[in-house]
Amino acid sequence: MLYPDLLILDTHFGIAHTRWATHGEPSAVNCHPHRSDKNNEFVVIHNGIITNYKELRKYLISKGYEFESETDTEVIPKLIKYVYDNRENDYVSFSTLVELVIQQLEGAFALVFKSVHFPGEAVATRRGSPLLIGVRSKYELSTEQIPIQYNTHFLEGVQQKNFRNRVDSTVALHSVSDRKAVEFYFASDASAIIEHTNKVIYLQDDDIAAVAEGKLSLHRMSRCAGEDPVRAIQTLQMELQQIMKGNFKAFMQKEIFEQPESVFNTMRGRICFDTNTVVLGGLKDHLKEIRRCRRLILIGCGTSFHAGVATRQILEELTELPVMVELASDFLDRITPVFRDDVCFLISQSGETADTLMALRYCQGRGALTVGVTNTVGSSISRETDCGVHINAGPEIGVASTKAYTSQFVALTMFGLMMSEDRISLQKRRLEIINGLRMLPGLIKEVLTLDDKIRSIADELYQQRSLLVMGRGYNYATCLEGALKIKEITYMHSEGILAGELKHGPLALIDKHMPVIMIIMRDACYTKCHNALQQVTARQGRPIILCCQDDPEITRNAYKTIELPQTVDCLQGIISVIPLQLMSFHLAVLRGYDVDCPRNLAKSVTVE
Ligand code: F6R
Repeated sequence: MLYPDLLILDTHFGIAHTRWATHGEPSAVNCHPHRSDKNNEFVVIHNGIITNYKELRKYLISKGYEFESETDTEVIPKLIKYVYDNRENDYVSFSTLVELVIQQLEGAFALVFKSVHFPGEAVATRRGSPLLIGVRSKYELSTEQIPIQYNTHFLEGVQQKNFRNRVDSTVALHSVSDRKAVEFYFASDASAIIEHTNKVIYLQDDDIAAVAEGKLSLHRMSRCAGEDPVRAIQTLQMELQQIMKGNFKAFMQKEIFEQPESVFNTMRGRICFDTNTVVLGGLKDHLKEIRRCRRLILIGCGTSFHAGVATRQILEELTELPVMVELASDFLDRITPVFRDDVCFLISQSGETADTLMALRYCQGRGALTVGVTNTVGSSISRETDCGVHINAGPEIGVASTKAYTSQFVALTMFGLMMSEDRISLQKRRLEIINGLRMLPGLIKEVLTLDDKIRSIADELYQQRSLLVMGRGYNYATCLEGALKIKEITYMHSEGILAGELKHGPLALIDKHMPVIMIIMRDACYTKCHNALQQVTARQGRPIILCCQDDPEITRNAYKTIELPQTVDCLQGIISVIPLQLMSFHLAVLRGYDVDCPRNLAKSVTVE
């Protein structure tokens, strides 16, 4: 809700949070910030989930606190007030209070606190959820490294001595004496602050950042062995224009149309087309170890999982290793056996997805080598993995992932090419794929010219309730991914169906009313897909077929065709997913929905 008269604020510190509801329905009372009491003594914004909130709430109720919302978050401002009211020493710092509070919290959180007792001060901390600090200064920043103050006595209680220690160590940006000369921004994601600054500090779990009188200090409770004693101020490569919509109706549409460049950027500087070699800098030192491994496990959620499904077959072929593809949540639920000689790939656009991050820690705990495949430099997954590949797709703002998928696809394929460089028997195949990659941006441009045709097909379909997407082989992942795009932004029911499974159940859905999209490309599964097509048409189904250009046999049996340029079989999924991305976009627009912000979904799912 907006209160226009409140928009002009005479304050130098404000907090706000766009909430993805975990506890309590989206409503004014459940909105952030949450407060300790009616006088707003402490207010807090929180991204994440507090898993022990019920116990804390019960305890605080027993101490006379009255809760206003149904959220887990509300225990935090109440708890900090409780700690403040029961302090042993009058002289206690804001960050000390926060430190005491987070010792009581379980779950995941990024928190920013504000208090009437500490006017103008901000304290922020994180565990499990991302948090970064943007720093904008009139002056050259005095230091590129912020030292961390470690406080080992802290558990002994809130003591004057501890507080003084901390003040002495507040050295960050100390040369800035003019208070207005420096501004700090706390955010979960760099795209929220890039408009103001490209200088950021990524906080680590249990770091506490305090800003008071224009100075930032960072500290944590105690030093762990081998821990980095500083946090660097990094310069983001992101440009503001990258996160603006430009002439497009939605970020998703812009990101679909960016794919010729984004896949090119994934390959840039990594493939040498003269020597047919691929070098992924973040992996090259670990290549020997990876080549000796027992198996590869590709782990992700949603679209990132689909990128694993899409590349499994080519990775099996090029690495000659067994490849498992796992949904992070299911992988953890099953307590899947992982061994020291496994190599686990954690695939994540945001690099912050809680399930994938948990899976990473699970694999690390079992001694496996972990490889991050992310689009976000400085994200938790890119920091915590042993090595990795940055997919370089550029910021993805639309909730529905598009260009990240095609770049993950390309990055994983390049990994396969790198692994197979010495295999004589695979050279012909490698060459074919490398050539395919070279042509890819041009072919994607060609597919994007089909936009008008796809919109006119969407015009016919948008009032339907269901849409099935069928295919097999290299394009099974395309079906899963296309159906996910359709369901998440159009709210139509959509299913990706493996054509080989048709006769084991899904065929019962087919009649002349059920819209079906079939993917039939000229690859090893062509004849089998053709059989599936016969089964569909025999039941009066009217399939819209994604097929290769000049395929009269398919065109004859189709209700409509979308003809696509042909590439090497293992890359065809990149070409064939784009019409489905466009289709979902047009269906959502025609149905009147906000394409970039589908209901109930968040871009970065930082809760389990
Ligand atoms: C779908 C979509 C989600 C994400 C999933 C994982 O369009 O965006 O399914 O793919 O939440 O997110 P990342 O890749 O950030 O780990």
